[in-house]
Amino acid sequence: MHTTYYKRWGLFMKNPLWCNYLKKMYQDGFQKIAYLTNQDNPFDQPNFTALLSGCHGETTAETFAQFIFSKNPTTKLYILDINPISIERCKAVLPKKFPNKTIVFLQENILGNSIPDNTIDYIETDGFLQFFEPKTQLPKLIAEWKRMLKPTGFITTRDIVTTNVIGRTIVAIMQFLAKHVFAITIYHQTLAEIEKLYFQYGFYSVVRKTWFPTFRQFTIIKKSLQGTKNKLE
Ligand SMILES: C[S@@+](CC[C@H](N)C(=O)[O-])C[C@H]1O[C@@H](n2cnc3c(N)ncnc32)[C@H](O)[C@@H]1O
Repeated sequence: MHTTYYKRWGLFMKNPLWCNYLKKMYQDGFQKIAYLTNQDNPFDQPNFTALLSGCHGETTAETFAQFIFSKNPTTKLYILDINPISIERCKAVLPKKFPNKTIVFLQENILGNSIPDNTIDYIETDGFLQFFEPKTQLPKLIAEWKRMLKPTGFITTRDIVTTNVIGRTIVAIMQFLAKHVFAITIYHQTLAEIEKLYFQYGFYSVVRKTWFPTFRQFTIIKKSLQGTKNKLE
């Protein structure tokens, strides 16, 4: 399953349009965090630590590493994925492209990972929530993100949400393709459900539409981040 998914989805990810999309989303998320936290460069902090939570493979990981080191060259970067081939490929490529940087590769299930509490400033991922069954696994994922993040930590992500019957139909087609082409199972929830979950686990989230009708962009901060709540309303 892992290898099929890595290879088939990888063909899509090697497309330069995909990397351009990621770069745009990273910069967009950066600007939203800067606005919410009143900082010109929210990544410019001592011991700044970032986590790519699910990487698919070396293309995404390299694009993210380039971005994060351009904002803070001393970032400690974790790259985590459950898929052995994803982490092997990242380990083969990234240390050569980014010598002298601190990059930690973890081939682990995020639900039960080894990253210590309160150590991460920034979590980024794209299309990750969809891998988690909404009732039993998704709350555990959000709880894990909360556990790892420092009180001033933040998250940027994009994922599937549905708001109406058209969205549910599109997602049903995506689920079919995921199963039969990429050999994976994907899930979805409504926008209200995911926002409620973030709130229950101590986060505020800002949501924006993307060009794809069932995909939403989330910028998420801990409720403990002072002085930002009004900006979200
Ligand atoms: C769609 S990719 C996300 C890619 C990447 N986050 C990005 O920005 O493009 C999802 C990745 O999550 C990984 N994954 C799925 N379930 C996981 C879990 N429980 N723990 C860690 N990684 C997981 C998959 O192996 C896959 O590589």
